Amino acid sequence: MPLTLKVNGKSIAVDVPPDMPLLWVLRDVLDLKGTKFGCGVSQCGSCTVHVNGHATRSCMTKVADVAGADITTIEGLSANGTHPVQRAWQDVDVPQCGYCQSGQIMTAAALLAEKPKPTDADIDAAMSDCLCRCATYVRIREAIHLAATMTTNAPAPAGRRGGER
Ligand code: FES
Ligand code: FES
Repeated sequence: MPLTLKVNGKSIAVDVPPDMPLLWVLRDVLDLKGTKFGCGVSQCGSCTVHVNGHATRSCMTKVADVAGADITTIEGLSANGTHPVQRAWQDVDVPQCGYCQSGQIMTAAALLAEKPKPTDADIDAAMSDCLCRCATYVRIREAIHLAATMTTNAPAPAGRRGGER
């Protein structure tokens, strides 16, 4: 029997096994390729999406367990890439290869929703399990602090274009 998912604000019926990982459904059934496979065992964070606003590792989440929940992927974080975290990521020029970055952004967005002005310790606690092979960690922390200064529609503060490497 098909399951009904609510992904990025749309209700979608999917005919998949109930124990299929949400990550496979997103990527292979719904063609939402922004969410990445890294480890498949909840160790890297690259598959992170929001489920009811909470950062959730989709590789270890059975699709049946999130039927009816609000699921948000990187494609649905904002209509046009203007979420404060996305703008801060651009301003600080965070990504290197980019592979881990949708998971980093989704994790950071969930952190800021919970703690609008996170400390370095808050950031480290929330982000430390999100692995980046390119070691962009310093820029990630800078970008989260920058995003915390932005409102949804405000531009980045002057003088914060481009991050230190
Ligand atoms: S692919 Fe899910 S945590 Fe690594
Ligand atoms: S930017 Fe390359 S793995 Fe993170």
